[in-house]
Amino acid sequence: MKTQDVLDALKIRTSYRNPTQNTQAPSISLDDLLDDYRDLNNLSGASYDFLMMAFRYEYFFKIFLNDFTKGKPVSPPAMEDFLLISFASLLTRTAEPLEKQSNTFLEILKSKWGLGPLKFANAFLRQVSRSMDKLKATIANNPELFLPVELQKRWATSPQLCKRMGRQISERPSPFISGFDIKGNFKSLKSSEALTLWQNKSDFFQAMDLGSQLFVRELFSKIKFSETVNPFVISDFCSAPGGKALLLGSLFLEQNKSTPLQVLAYDSKWNRLERLKQNLNNFCGFLSPENLSRFKFSCQLNDARENIDLRNTHLALFDLPCSGSGTLHSRPDILGQSLNNQDRSQVLGLQAAILERLQRSLETTPEFKGVIAISLCSLDPEEIAGVDSFVKKILLRGFRLNEFNTFESTQETCEGIRAWILLPS
Ligand SMILES: C[S@@+](CC[C@H](N)C(=O)[O-])C[C@H]1O[C@@H](n2cnc3c(N)ncnc32)[C@H](O)[C@@H]1O
Repeated sequence: MKTQDVLDALKIRTSYRNPTQNTQAPSISLDDLLDDYRDLNNLSGASYDFLMMAFRYEYFFKIFLNDFTKGKPVSPPAMEDFLLISFASLLTRTAEPLEKQSNTFLEILKSKWGLGPLKFANAFLRQVSRSMDKLKATIANNPELFLPVELQKRWATSPQLCKRMGRQISERPSPFISGFDIKGNFKSLKSSEALTLWQNKSDFFQAMDLGSQLFVRELFSKIKFSETVNPFVISDFCSAPGGKALLLGSLFLEQNKSTPLQVLAYDSKWNRLERLKQNLNNFCGFLSPENLSRFKFSCQLNDARENIDLRNTHLALFDLPCSGSGTLHSRPDILGQSLNNQDRSQVLGLQAAILERLQRSLETTPEFKGVIAISLCSLDPEEIAGVDSFVKKILLRGFRLNEFNTFESTQETCEGIRAWILLPS
């Protein structure tokens, strides 16, 4: 265990607690971290791993800490982040003996905060080591403790869902990051390799969880491409940072060697749109000259609650903003964000407003004969029911429905994605 890796993870974790730059806390997906923490330009796979495990163990840790301190706050607050990283490490890094790990953490603590908090931290780490068997039994029997209490209450009618999600969070994630290459081939890289590749921009690799990739591949397989169409137009109404559009683009350019492709990418958030532009430009830099000459894209700020233009579109994609509970496996940071009750009710309103706008556009564009794909990276029963009832309504207009669902997948790295592919009949 390297001191610098722990310190880098601690720096990000603590800034997450107190976001600077008057913005909300950044996402902890690897590529976002590289953007947000340029000063940590040697961010290693190991520091990312410490950080991921800290986010995953946060709620379980809080129960233990509260018991240990009898509810008293830890001071300074950043020490709590440090204890969290240590706690998650002791419980999940089985290759290194507990004693050795504890001593390394105490050395790091001493170098950062001096001798003051040493006694407290020492007692805490010893208590974790002593309770190891009990803690592991609790994790095995009550994995739902890894979820925030308000989420457990909201999903009280689906205890199996809580258990399943908790179990997934408590387990060490695969050390590989899944994604795709410029030709749309599935690719899996170790986080350290992905970091080096992004830092050096030496090859194209777009990170994307397996569930989303499976959905895009399924969608692509359902579309019938007519040779008379020129160009094929994809309108992606909730597009940033562009993962699904890029995978669709790669597959299209590789498999249709003559038709040009135009991607109209929209999003309502300026900063995310900037990210999307960077990703699209980066993607273009790796295309072969032939494919580049057939590919056009534009990025526009657009609120899908107010404007959805379906004219001249062959595929309309709605990857809806959602609470993200289907992506907890790779984005455990959202446990403290979009899954809380307040953010979730906003998300439900947003989804309903976008779908209502889509319905109006379908009414005013009767000539639209393209494909509509709606996707949700959420396990939340209410969010799913909202899209379901909308889809039932538009089926009356003569679409055929193909449902896609990775929730029941047994593949470890597969996230929960739910999608409705509506094909013209
Ligand atoms: C699930 S993400 C899209 C991910 C993207 N499709 C991908 O594969 O990389 C949802 C996106 O919807 C955007 N969004 C939220 N509200 C919106 C609105 N009212 N109109 C358009 N986009 C919106 C968010 O900024 C976010 O980028």
